[in-house]
Amino acid sequence: MTARITQDEIKKQLEYCSELKEHFSYLDHPLAMVDTYGCQQNEADSEKIRGYLAEMGFAFTQDEFAADIIVINTCAVREHAEMRVLGNVGALNHTKKAKPDQIIAVCGCMVQQEHMTNKIKMSYPVVDMVFGPHELWRFPELLEEHLIRKRRIFATEKSSGAIAEGIPLRRDGKVKAWISIMYGCNNFCTYCIVPYVRGRERSRRPEDIVSEARQLVAEGYKDITVLGQNVNSYGKDLDCGVDFADLLAMINDIPGDFILRFMTSHPKDATEKLFRTMAQCGKCAHHIHLPVQSGNDTVLKRMNRNYTSADYLDKVALAREYMPDLVITTDIIVGFPGETDEQFEDTLKLCREVGYDAMFIFIYSKRLGTPAATMPDPFTREEKQVRFDKLTALSNEISGRKHRAYIGKTLRVLIDGETGKDEYNLSARTNGGRLVHLKGSPELIGSFREVKITDGNTWALYGEMEDA
Ligand code: 5AD
Ligand code: SF4
Repeated sequence: MTARITQDEIKKQLEYCSELKEHFSYLDHPLAMVDTYGCQQNEADSEKIRGYLAEMGFAFTQDEFAADIIVINTCAVREHAEMRVLGNVGALNHTKKAKPDQIIAVCGCMVQQEHMTNKIKMSYPVVDMVFGPHELWRFPELLEEHLIRKRRIFATEKSSGAIAEGIPLRRDGKVKAWISIMYGCNNFCTYCIVPYVRGRERSRRPEDIVSEARQLVAEGYKDITVLGQNVNSYGKDLDCGVDFADLLAMINDIPGDFILRFMTSHPKDATEKLFRTMAQCGKCAHHIHLPVQSGNDTVLKRMNRNYTSADYLDKVALAREYMPDLVITTDIIVGFPGETDEQFEDTLKLCREVGYDAMFIFIYSKRLGTPAATMPDPFTREEKQVRFDKLTALSNEISGRKHRAYIGKTLRVLIDGETGKDEYNLSARTNGGRLVHLKGSPELIGSFREVKITDGNTWALYGEMEDA
C-alpha cells in the first residue's frame, strides 16, 4: 500500500508558508533562486519548491548574488552532475560572504546518498539545509526549523516513499507542462542509483492526474508530458483497474487542442495495448522514448534489463506497425563494466537497425551501492571514449538522414518559444517532438501551425509557415 501524506499535513505546510511570509516581510522584495540538475522529474519537483516559495512571498531570480534563498535540486545519476553541483555549491561562499543572511539549501537525489550528505556536512559549511526527495513535501517546515533553531538541517531519512497531493506548483512557461504520474522505480538496473534514492514505485490516483491535466488544458497549456521513471508500470500498485494505456486514453478524452506526451518507457513493460492506444488517441504524440541501454544480450542481462535485443526489436516493429510515422528515441550506456569491443559492436548494429531519430549516449559512471559498482571494469576511460565517439557519429548520421527525409513535407507543429537568433527566431516541435526553426511573430507562441519543411540537419528541421 502506498503511503499518502494527508491533506491536513499539506495544510500545515501552507500555514508554515504564511508564517514564513511574515518572517521574510523585513525584506523589500524577497528573491529566491532554484537551480535544477538532471531529469524532467527533477524539473517537476522544482516546480513544487517554487510553488512553496511563491506562497512564502518570494519572486524568482537567476542571479545568485541577488537571491535571499538558493535551492539547488541535485541529480545522482552520473558523477559528472554531482561534480558540477559540488563546484557550484563551493562557489556560493562568495555570495554568502556578500549577503550573510542568504539561506542555501541542497536537495534532491544526490543528497539522498549518505556519503554525499556527510561530505556536505563536513566540507561545505556554507550549506544551511539538506533534504532528500522524500522530505520535499515538508520543505516549509524544514525552513522554519532552520530559522527558529538557527542550526543546519539534514533531512535525509531513508524511505520507500509516499505520495503528497496538493502541493502548490509554480510552472515555467505557458505552453508546455509536466505532470508526474508516479514516483520511484522498482527495476534495479544494476548501474542505476535511482531506485535507492527515489524509493519504490508508487502511482498517483487517476482522478488526481486527470483533474490536473484538465486544469492545465483550461489554463491554455498545449503540450502535456506525463512523467515517471517507468510509466509502463503505472497503476500496478493501485489495484484500481487503470493501467498506463487507460490513463493515456482518459487524458486524451479531455476536450481541447493539445499534444499528450510521456516519459520514460521501460522496453520490458511496453505492451501492444500501449501502442494501439497511442495510435487510436488523436492527441497522443507518435513518439516513444524507449531506452535500450545496450544491443548485446550478455550486457543486457548483466544490466538486469529483462529483455533481449530480439525482444526489443520485436517491440519496435510492433509499435511501427501501429504507427508507421513513430519517432523513436533512446538512451545508451557505453562502457558498462566488462563490455567488450565485440559487445559494443552489437549496440552499433542494433542502433543502425532501429534507426533512432535521436540517441542520448552516456559513458558508464560508477554509482556507489549499486551492483555494477563491484563488477570488474577493465577498460580505460580512453577506450570508452572511443566507443562514445563512434556511437555519437552514428547517431548524428542517422538523425541527419531522418531529418532530411522531412524536406518538402508539410507538418502541423506547435510553436513553443523563441530561439534568440535573428534568422529563424521561433522554435516549434513536430508531433513526434522534433525541433523545427521558423520565422514569424512571437505572438504565435502557443499556437499550432502548418509548416512546410525546407531544410534539415542532425539537430533540427527548418520550415516556413504555410499560412504566414
Ligand atoms: N552511468 C551512466 N549512465 C547512466 N544512466 C543511468 N545510470 C547511469 C550510470 N550509472 C543513464 C541511462 C538512463 C539515463 C536516464 O541515464 O541510460 O536511461
Ligand atoms: Fe534506473 Fe532502470 Fe529504474 Fe530507469 S528503469 S530509473 S535505468 S533502475
